[in-house]
Amino acid sequence: MRTKSLTIIAEHHQYFKNDGDDVIQGLKQTPKNLPPKYFYDDRGSELFEQICELPEYYPTRTEAWILSQFADEIAQITDKCELIELGSGSSTKTLLLLDAYQNKSSLCRYVPVDVSGGILKASVLKLQKKYPGLSVEGLVGTYEQALAMLASTASQSSTLGGTPSRMIFFLGSSMGNFTPQDSEYFLQQVSQTLNPGDYFLLGIDLQKPKDILEAAYNDNQGVTAAFNLNMLSHLNWRFQGNFDLDSFTHQAIYNQADAQIEMYLHCQKSHWVSLEALDLKVFLEAGESILTEISRKFDLENIQKELEVQGMKTIKTWTDSKEWFGLILCQA
Ligand code: AVJ
Repeated sequence: MRTKSLTIIAEHHQYFKNDGDDVIQGLKQTPKNLPPKYFYDDRGSELFEQICELPEYYPTRTEAWILSQFADEIAQITDKCELIELGSGSSTKTLLLLDAYQNKSSLCRYVPVDVSGGILKASVLKLQKKYPGLSVEGLVGTYEQALAMLASTASQSSTLGGTPSRMIFFLGSSMGNFTPQDSEYFLQQVSQTLNPGDYFLLGIDLQKPKDILEAAYNDNQGVTAAFNLNMLSHLNWRFQGNFDLDSFTHQAIYNQADAQIEMYLHCQKSHWVSLEALDLKVFLEAGESILTEISRKFDLENIQKELEVQGMKTIKTWTDSKEWFGLILCQA
């Protein structure tokens, strides 16, 4: 039956070609920055799960509400297909979709993709228990690696003919982490992984007043602060570094002009940091800030145009009554 339920696309320290190059590059820039994918070691994924439960962090529960209302309709529109989820994490919201497809018995395979092997393994096991008839095949790796791998299997299956369609989905507004150029490249890659008629389901956080946004990223319990700081512990163990976590404080601000949350680690005291595995030494000045994440807030109309440019035509959009979060279903 199932042969493989978890595929590690690359060995751990080879998740990324030239692993750590992006860290070196980011720390050499002014202002310094670090790529958000380094949030997600196993501890970071756990902290992110806690963020999703915070009273201030509305995106997860708003998107879950939209899915609870419209998952059946989505399953109805796409009909029988295999589901591929990018950045699946714990797959909690996914259950709403999987249930809808199971009810119509129109699901053949679920492929969750995540960089965090620990959380992925746990959720694959959980899902195999809950849906014994379903083939669940996790991929540990970056979006880029997974899409490249899936693009080759897409062309294979189309030459065989008669294979069910595929829906790639990307929830939680994770696309907000990409700069406009990076999201263009990402959407292009998604589009290349789809055959004509296949689907892409995208969840995006929408523009809204600054105070609501800033509260969501500066929660009272300090979970987001711990999540932000955890990136430094991750870099410490991964690249034999010596960031002193006590010397940094967390802050998130909404940059209205660029419609994006910017998350920073402010350095409180001047010190040298070395990352031995990267052969890197950097000086951090007291008062200096490292940008660890942008989280863009979207406009539902604009993003549809960007999808269209990449050959993905919007079929339907859904939102909540406050229009805080949007879900777009499009077709290649
Ligand atoms: C997983 C990228 C969608 O930007 O809201 C949450 C990550 N960072 N709180 C987001 C995050 C701080 C989250 N995404």
